[in-house]
Amino acid sequence: MAKNKTYRTNVALRLTFTMLLAVLSSGLLQQSFAGEPENSAHMKAAKEFAGSEIVKQKNCVTCHTIGESGGTVGPILNLISNRRTEEWLRTWFSDPNSLKPGTKMPNFAFSEAELDDLMKHMTKLKRPVNSEEILSANSDPIMAGAALFEAYDCLACHRIGDQGRFVGPNLTWVGNRKSQEWEATWLADPSAYKPGTFMPNFHFSSAEIDALTAFLHSQQGQANDQARKWESMTSFILDARPRERGRLVAERVACWSCHGEGLTGGVKNENAQPDGLTPDISSAFLDLDEDVLKDIILNGKTATKIDPAGVTPPFSCPSWKAALTDSELEDLLSYLESIVPESAMWEFE
Ligand code: HEC
Ligand code: HEC
Ligand code: HEC
Repeated sequence: MAKNKTYRTNVALRLTFTMLLAVLSSGLLQQSFAGEPENSAHMKAAKEFAGSEIVKQKNCVTCHTIGESGGTVGPILNLISNRRTEEWLRTWFSDPNSLKPGTKMPNFAFSEAELDDLMKHMTKLKRPVNSEEILSANSDPIMAGAALFEAYDCLACHRIGDQGRFVGPNLTWVGNRKSQEWEATWLADPSAYKPGTFMPNFHFSSAEIDALTAFLHSQQGQANDQARKWESMTSFILDARPRERGRLVAERVACWSCHGEGLTGGVKNENAQPDGLTPDISSAFLDLDEDVLKDIILNGKTATKIDPAGVTPPFSCPSWKAALTDSELEDLLSYLESIVPESAMWEFE
């Protein structure tokens, strides 16, 4: 990223901070699944799909939002064909585990006729994205990025504030943990960075990437309070145990976006110890003194290089002081305590 560009983005960031807040609270982002015009082609198709025999029979909506309602376990499906090819979808339906080992999506062992029926519906779930129009209508890169983020329905899998889903990392604080350069590398080809990732390749142009990353990088926790309100409501309704509240906090700041699913590490982090990967922190609660653990979470920890003369690793542990209240930090520790693998406890004894 050229220096002057970063500078311009920084200026734009300050200028548009309040505008962005207005956008977020006016619910522009929410439109990606809730406020679609009733009569848009893909919403009509989505409602038809939601009412179809196959969806009713297999209860897809217990996990997926199709049309205006449904579950929150899987991605919102209203614009699925903007991001997945028919070929990908056929493979997914025939053997979800082959594309995402351990997925919560059941293998329904569909017949060929059922697959054809599903495809007939799914190929209609798309909306053309006129990115040139979006880019030329928004001279401010952050606003352009917000509009593209909405047009590509990133909230089908991700979350900002109290909007979106949980399949990808929560992006409320993405600007606090990842550099804009890294975000650009990621968006250009997710599976080149992380083979086998579930994040689709949208084949963005470099102008789209510039705008999207300007928007992503502007996400520095402005929506933290909305996320927090949603969490306290959810934990009130579902389960008030500290470790469950802590799980939601860990989800909000997306520890797993670097430490991997289950926080067992192994995500590529060039020239960082250990082994050019992020560390396994699943037993950190046991391995580290509570004070040390709290210090790392509150103040961050710079990645240690393998080769001191080599590149700076893209990820370091960020400071989460601004994201957490004292009691949220305690909840987060309860969550970390709850995930310590049994094997680590044996070693400890
Ligand atoms: C038990 C919950 C569950 C049910 C029931 C379920 N799915 Fe899924 N589905 C998921 C999850 C979760 C994912 C995302 C993969 C992951 O995170 O494991 C997914 C992913 C998908 C995807 C890919 C989405 C994307 O954005 O790439 C499609 C398409 C899909 N499901 C369609 C369906 C259809 C159609 C049905 C009904 C026939 C169905 N699913 C039933 C949980 C479910
Ligand atoms: C089908 C679900 C899905 C969709 C749709 C999706 N993502 Fe992702 N995304 C993921 C997953 C899963 C990851 C985590 C990658 C991993 O660890 O494998 C991810 C990771 C990311 C990351 C890096 C994670 C971080 O927080 O540090 C960014 C940035 C990102 N996505 C941006 C986007 C943008 C922008 C869009 C819309 C253009 C989008 N994603 C659409 C699933 C999705
Ligand atoms: C931007 C990526 C990133 C995110 C997000 C992140 N970490 Fe880290 N974390 C790292 C890296 C890299 C290290 C290794 C630092 C080093 O070299 O000592 C690390 C180290 C740690 C350590 C020390 C491990 C050890 O054995 O010394 C703990 C504990 C930890 N992280 C906890 C967390 C928690 C809890 C969260 C969420 C609140 C989190 N991290 C979010 C990148 C991240």
